[in-house]
This record gives sequence, structure tokens and C-alpha cells, in this order.
Amino acid sequence: MSRPTLTEHLIASDAPPALRLLIETVAQTCARIADAISQGALGGVLGDAGTGNVQGEQQKKLDVIANDMMLAANARNGTLRGMASEEMDDVSPLEASDAPYLLLFDPLDGSSNIDVNVSVGTIFSVLAAPRQPRAVTAEDFLQPGRDQVAAGYVVYGPATMLVLTCGRGVDGFTLDRHTGSWWLTQPGMTVPAQTREYAINASNARHWFDPVKRYVDDLLAGKTGPIGKDYNMRWVASMVADVHRIMSRGGVFMYPRDARDPDKPGKLRLMYEANPMAMLVEQAGGAAHDGTTRILDIAPTGIHQRVAVFLGSREEVERAAAYGSD
Ligand code: AHG
Ligand code: MN
Ligand code: MN
Repeated sequence: MSRPTLTEHLIASDAPPALRLLIETVAQTCARIADAISQGALGGVLGDAGTGNVQGEQQKKLDVIANDMMLAANARNGTLRGMASEEMDDVSPLEASDAPYLLLFDPLDGSSNIDVNVSVGTIFSVLAAPRQPRAVTAEDFLQPGRDQVAAGYVVYGPATMLVLTCGRGVDGFTLDRHTGSWWLTQPGMTVPAQTREYAINASNARHWFDPVKRYVDDLLAGKTGPIGKDYNMRWVASMVADVHRIMSRGGVFMYPRDARDPDKPGKLRLMYEANPMAMLVEQAGGAAHDGTTRILDIAPTGIHQRVAVFLGSREEVERAAAYGSD
């Protein structure tokens, strides 16, 4: 078969050697995470870790396993000056050097689905490290999403897939579990501009602000409502799986800010979830905003900052934005 492997694809691209090595390391690590996930109860990987993270969430065993794998594998390849993760209180600086990159990740996205054998994922974002060869700090990671060098996710579904952008479009690779190779199976992924499918956790409806209520009411009204077409709804509760569906056939994904806790502007994390997904979706021709602002233009103020997210098919995301935020 003439399709390239991830390695061949990266060599043929103009990605610098250090970025190629970093992406290969992340991909190999995710293949090992896929293996751990696939063992399920046989591998003793299900259930709670008995610890909490900085987000105030209970950690699953696989949150911790995947985080440790990402840290260990990526610390040694000489491309990184530091890492930050949803599962770690503070950034993890590596030895001061001239290594060019910082890596941020959500090691296991969709943790609530682990124990029920539903798709989960890993999300990652690559930023440039400061030029001076000093130990990095949290401030060095606080770069707007538009400055990401690369971003991607791995979805551990019926097939394990890597979806990657280095800033020139989006490509999808499928893991051959027998050989450990990633093959380019979905080159040049694009998100259709229009859609008839939306994703939102409707059990939060009573907490939404009026513009989101009005928009979702109009989606529900279907053909006879003001939008004039019928919609279908899907919600996996793993952002990776929901975004992968949108990357594959279009749709709009929403996790709006709501009235519950004024200190939490949304549920999803800007640095580990919203920014990498926004880069992928934009690179595929879609759009991503927080209700008022393009996600990739938000100036981060903290590594664990949360943000409202509307992303997917461009025309539908623009329609949602036109309703206003709150
Ligand atoms: P994580 O497992 O990394 O904490 O992320 C879970 C996120 C995201 O994957 C998903 O879209 C959302 O939380 C689901 O939220 P609800 O449980 O409120 O549906
Ligand atoms: Mn997540
Ligand atoms: Mn997570």
C-alpha cells in the first residue's frame, strides 16, 4: 500500500527535526497508553486512583498512568524544556538547555468513560520555549493558542487514531496495533462549514445564560423554528470523541459558561483542551470561540484556566456566536 507512515509523513513535511522527534515520542507514548487502556479490567487499570488533582477532580488510575507515561517518555528526548498537565499542580521544568519546545497535555480525556468502556483520548499542545537557556516557569507556558507550534489528539476508540496539525492543515493517522506503526489514513481533514448536528450536555440547561438557552431552543425547534432545519444531537462526554466526530463529519460542540460558579468560566481547560482543539478545528476550516472571543486569541492568565468552548462547523459556530454570550 502506498500510504505513508507518520515517520515518512513528518520527514516529507518541513517540520524541524526536534518537532518530528517530539511528535514521534508523543505518538509512541499514546500507542502504549492505548495498550494499557485496551487491557481494561485484565490490566487492573480501571477505577479510581484515590487521589485528587488541582482541578478538584477525583483522579482515575488511568489519569495517573497516562500522565506518568507522558512525563517519563518525553523527558528524555532532548526536545523539551518543560511540561504542563491537567493532572499536575505545577509545571514540570526539565534541565536548562537550548531545547526548543514546551509540551502541554490532557493525558486522559473523558475519564468518566473509562470504567464503562467508551472512547477516551489524549490531547497535546506544543509551544516554543524561551530562547534563553534557563529553567522555565509557569509564565513561559502562558502563550495565546495562536502561537502553538503543533497540536493534536489521540482517540482511543474502536480504532486508535492520531489527529495532528503542525500549522499546515490536519492529518489523521491510524495505529496498527500489531506493528506499532501509525499510517496516514485521513490526509487533509476538513470540517464541513454547515451541519445538522450539535453536542451539548443538556442536563446543564437550567444553569445556562439566556443566549445559549435561546440558541439551543432554536436548534430544538428544527424545521419549523427560526433556523428552519432539523438537527440531531450527540454527546459522548469525552471531548476527544466529540471533536473527532466533528472533524470527521461536521457538527458544533458547546460547553458554555453557566451560572453555577462565577469563578469557573466554563468547564474545559484552555491550555490542555480548548487551545489544541481550536487549532485543529481552525486548521481544518472550522471555527472556535468562547462566546465572544476567538479561543486562539485569549491571553492566558493561569495554566489551569477554564474557558467556555463553542467549536466546529464554521457557519454553525458563527450562528451560535451571534446569539451573544450572557
Ligand atoms: P477530563 O476527563 O479530562 O476531565 O475531561 C472531561 C471533559 C471533556 O472531555 C468532556 O467534553 C466533558 O468534560 C464532559 O463533561 P460532562 O461530564 O459535564 O458531560
Ligand atoms: Mn479532558
Ligand atoms: Mn483529563
